Amino acid sequence: MADTKMFHGWAAKGPKQAMAPLAFDPGELGDEEVEIAVDYCGICHSDLSMLDNEWGMTSYPFVPGHEAVGRVVALGSHAKGLELGQIVGVGWNRGSCMHCHQCIGGEHHLCRQVEATIVGRHGAFADRIRSHWAWAIPLPAGLDAADAGPLFCGGITVFSPIVIHGVKPTDRVGVVGIGGLGHMAIRFLDAWGCAVTAFTSSERKRDEALALGADHVVTSTDSVAIKAIAGSLDLVLVTANAALDWDAYIAALAPGGCIHIVGAVLEPIPVSVFSLMGGQKSLSSSPTGSPAVIAEMLAFCAQHGIKPQVEHFPMSRVNDAMQHLRDGKARYRIVLDAKG
Ligand SMILES: NC(=O)c1ccc[n+]([C@@H]2O[C@H](COP(=O)([O-])OP(=O)(O)OC[C@H]3O[C@@H](n4cnc5c(N)ncnc54)[C@H](OP(=O)(O)O)[C@@H]3O)[C@@H](O)[C@H]2O)c1
Ligand SMILES: [Zn+2]
Ligand SMILES: [Zn+2]
Repeated sequence: MADTKMFHGWAAKGPKQAMAPLAFDPGELGDEEVEIAVDYCGICHSDLSMLDNEWGMTSYPFVPGHEAVGRVVALGSHAKGLELGQIVGVGWNRGSCMHCHQCIGGEHHLCRQVEATIVGRHGAFADRIRSHWAWAIPLPAGLDAADAGPLFCGGITVFSPIVIHGVKPTDRVGVVGIGGLGHMAIRFLDAWGCAVTAFTSSERKRDEALALGADHVVTSTDSVAIKAIAGSLDLVLVTANAALDWDAYIAALAPGGCIHIVGAVLEPIPVSVFSLMGGQKSLSSSPTGSPAVIAEMLAFCAQHGIKPQVEHFPMSRVNDAMQHLRDGKARYRIVLDAKG
């Protein structure tokens, strides 16, 4: 008989290695924790960067997975607001201190003790995961659990800047990089009422970006084309994880505009103050989002019929799925199905 105490996941033993089955003991369930049987888990580019130890903070064996959707199967004695059997999602974060200024203020994702789901612990490419009750967000009626996983990291990461910057329906917004995050950003901004310009380095994504809801498409690596739309964008949301012609993008901003970077660009960004000063422009960044804004995003998706465009792989083919993402072939987010 299978040991029900053990969790069963897919783990890599070192950077860039294939994942293989791993059984591990999660220990006792904490009083404030909930245990979730994973039904689906999206694959974010951050899973790939962590697998490869690109950010120098991966511990092996490493079980990726931080876009989980599943059923609550156990509740700690002090877990609040959730019921057994309820469908919930867990994203990049799985806990925070709950008593600091940020947590009390509702910005739990900015807590200095925030716990990332796959940093120093095993993630959701597994049959079960645990999180603090506040970080397991119920899925509203009207959202399909099979498609919803990517909203919990990729989705909130591009929804949160819309809230942070108080984006208005009259705003003109650029989205750079039409991958997992970028395609959801186009859908959100289109439903928000904005004029959306998609920036892609892939010619074959031009028509796809228009179908997702973009009004214009510009080649993200063509400095001349970017300079040709100088002064026209109120916000540019960068989801690409690569160095860009930053001066051209700053020039594309209207006065008061902002370049908001959520892609994990490793190279430092050289910017002259004078390119910002005259037009009162800015650069900013943000990490995922708070539990309350995740819930708002889910409600917005349910109301507007928005869902990620996903490709399903059985969890048993996790290595093929990861290679598909590595090859830049995902359209636009891969979801692993636990049953398979
Ligand atoms: N801030 C946060 O909290 C947070 C949360 C989640 C993810 N992330 C990070 O966000 C980034 C995107 O994640 P994702 O899951 O959306 O990845 P993804 O699906 O791989 O999409 C990234 C997109 O960036 C574009 N791109 C890639 N290389 C490029 C290059 N050399 N030049 C120009 N564009 C390039 C591509 O779009 P085109 O084909 O359209 O050019 C690609 O589809 C990753 O770095 C990830 O770690 C950050
Ligand atoms: Zn805190
Ligand atoms: Zn992620």
